[in-house]
Amino acid sequence: MSQLANKHQAINLSQGFPNFETSKQLKELVHTAMLNGHNQYAHMRGDLELREVIVQKIHKSYGATYNADNEITVTAGATEALFNAITAFVHKNDEVLIFKPAFDSYEPVVKLNGGIPVYIQLHYPNYQINWQEVASKISTKTKMIILNSPLNPTGTLLSKEDLQALEKIIRGTDIIVLSDEVYEHMTYDGLTHESICKYDTLKNHSFIIASFGKTFHNTGWKMGYAAAPKQLMDEFIKVHEFNVYSINTPFQKAFAAFIKDENNYNYLNQFYQNKRDLFLNGIQHSKFTFIPSKGTYFQLLKYDNITLENDVDFAKRMVQEFKIAAIPVSVFNTHHLDEKVLRFCFAKTDDTLLKACDILCQIR
Ligand SMILES: Cc1ncc(COP(=O)(O)O)c(C=O)c1O
Repeated sequence: MSQLANKHQAINLSQGFPNFETSKQLKELVHTAMLNGHNQYAHMRGDLELREVIVQKIHKSYGATYNADNEITVTAGATEALFNAITAFVHKNDEVLIFKPAFDSYEPVVKLNGGIPVYIQLHYPNYQINWQEVASKISTKTKMIILNSPLNPTGTLLSKEDLQALEKIIRGTDIIVLSDEVYEHMTYDGLTHESICKYDTLKNHSFIIASFGKTFHNTGWKMGYAAAPKQLMDEFIKVHEFNVYSINTPFQKAFAAFIKDENNYNYLNQFYQNKRDLFLNGIQHSKFTFIPSKGTYFQLLKYDNITLENDVDFAKRMVQEFKIAAIPVSVFNTHHLDEKVLRFCFAKTDDTLLKACDILCQIR
């Protein structure tokens, strides 16, 4: 979609990245770290000071305790962390529960390792999980459940009740939960992110995956981390060691200094809520319908008042005719289920969002 958007010089609300700059202070911290000679291999698990800062951040945010020595690994983005966690545990014929729509990197890694994805399709508009259905899909071969909240692409959140239901399913099993929480700092309307690590039973079975790229507006730096109990992290680190060994040093030094100050991330919910609201106000008189996103920097828009074309065709036509790009949600679904919904990324400058709203209001 991004390529098509570039070809047609369309406003690109398709791919999930900000079109504004990361913090100047953070860039200066990287530069200073380089000038101060932090340019050789870092510790395999990540710079110790950064790991300690991550442990403090998790504790401040969710009250959970991890050990910086052996329960945190700094990774090349969330993508590497997801790869390592799946590769460390999922082997031939192991089953992995994946909720659809899902971010596109889970399923290929499961398959690469010989695992079998078992899908649970959620539906527009609430994408509510039926935990009885989940329980019915658990078998002796179930090795892992992959969760993502706030959920890309739907903008929905797992609730306390969801996590309590999951806790019941997991208790007494060896099932591992891979909890992708890369949008943890983007929740709206007073709702808060329910991290898996707030629930003791779940924490003991889980990897939490985070992305500095998503949180600090620098997706191109490819930095993130995994947090998990020692017995899980001991396996994860074996894949990390022979995958990348360690992550670049100066950026880790910079994040260690930057993340110490919680003001550098506590503003994000409001910052993104303002963008979501600007976008939704701007399209309130359009023919698109929506439920406001509760989290992530994505907003779904339903277009069945405009056309009944399938979502891929409509998304392509929007780029060609109207010069605006979005992602058809069917690409994230099982069997390309088409519920006539498109995903728009609102991590864009206000100016870009206002231009996008003007266009969307003209599509009738
Ligand atoms: C749900 C989800 N997980 C993981 C990632 C990848 O994060 P990173 O860029 O840190 O590898 C993305 C990126 O779009 C995402 O949406």
